[in-house]
Amino acid sequence: VRTQSREGIFRFLLTFECWLERCFPVGDDSLLNRALRHALFPGGKRIRPMLCITAYEACLAAKRQAASGKRLVTILPVAAAIELIHTFSLIQDDLPAMDDDTERRGRPALHVAFGEATALLASDALFARAFELLAGADASPARCMRVVAEIARAIGKDGLVAGQLQDISAEMSNVKCQMSNTPIPDIPLRKVLRHIHCLKTARLIAVSFKSGAIIAAARPSVVSTLEQAGTYLGMLFQITDDLLDVATERRGAGKSGDSALRTPRSAPEVLTYPSLYGVEGSRSRARGYQARYQSALRRIRSDLSPGGYRDLQAAGEMILARTQ
Ligand code: IPE
Ligand code: IPE
Ligand code: MG
Ligand code: MG
Repeated sequence: VRTQSREGIFRFLLTFECWLERCFPVGDDSLLNRALRHALFPGGKRIRPMLCITAYEACLAAKRQAASGKRLVTILPVAAAIELIHTFSLIQDDLPAMDDDTERRGRPALHVAFGEATALLASDALFARAFELLAGADASPARCMRVVAEIARAIGKDGLVAGQLQDISAEMSNVKCQMSNTPIPDIPLRKVLRHIHCLKTARLIAVSFKSGAIIAAARPSVVSTLEQAGTYLGMLFQITDDLLDVATERRGAGKSGDSALRTPRSAPEVLTYPSLYGVEGSRSRARGYQARYQSALRRIRSDLSPGGYRDLQAAGEMILARTQ
């Protein structure tokens, strides 16, 4: 059952890849398109679009409207927009002014391959294209507008971008002043860390679920519970990411391959779950988020299709156990 569910989450991957490919056709030889293709293909895990499609399908199939064929066309632009926004954030994340990573997914980071100016402009183009796709999704205008607003909120001043800004300067010593214009002296580091993870990673994952549910016209309580479940899953995702960084750096193989000048993410002065709680403490917190994720899903089980529910359950298990 588990293997089937794991395959279940990714069963739309090929359709998704083909659809995304057509947005940036290989025949377009312009500098911008070549840069965009470098950032997008081959992609990473595509976890956010898969979660968006799975949530959509789980809500829709519960209403006996199977999300195959034509119906999938409705969610593909939304799922693709989310992947473009994710890619935009990774391009910027690797820039010298941010994490200064020279590799991404085992290949040169975009600014290394194409220069910083092209990388920055390519990330702008992805951002713009994402909203173009959302605006053109084949759902009711009201649902499209709601998804546009939700996704914009998840990225901006109270979302991913804010989380990234706090993260890049979040060293143990100065993090308290970074939190607010008016310093809050006694804010505990564990709260700061949770807040940063929530903003920089969990909000985009949560809105992936939420958008799928909105486009499927799920009931408001289902939409909000899926968003909550996505927040837990996003926290789990970033904790496992930091644990993977520790494992990689302990093996002496940092992501950049040349991290001599850069403080590794596993260094004690960088605020991460492993630096604050240790490896075991982080694993136990990851398990805690997985448990909360599963219990949120159980609350809406009757509003999801049985297959969709199993797929979503499997997503939590997969992320807890992930090795990449
Ligand atoms: C990496 O995200 C950035 C984080 C939020 C931890 P992913 O691990 O989803 O990146 P790809 O797209 O699969 O490479
Ligand atoms: C990734 O954060 C970027 C976003 C969450 C937007 P990290 O800096 O922790 O992730 P990697 O390790 O570079 O993928
Ligand atoms: Mg970063
Ligand atoms: Mg990084």
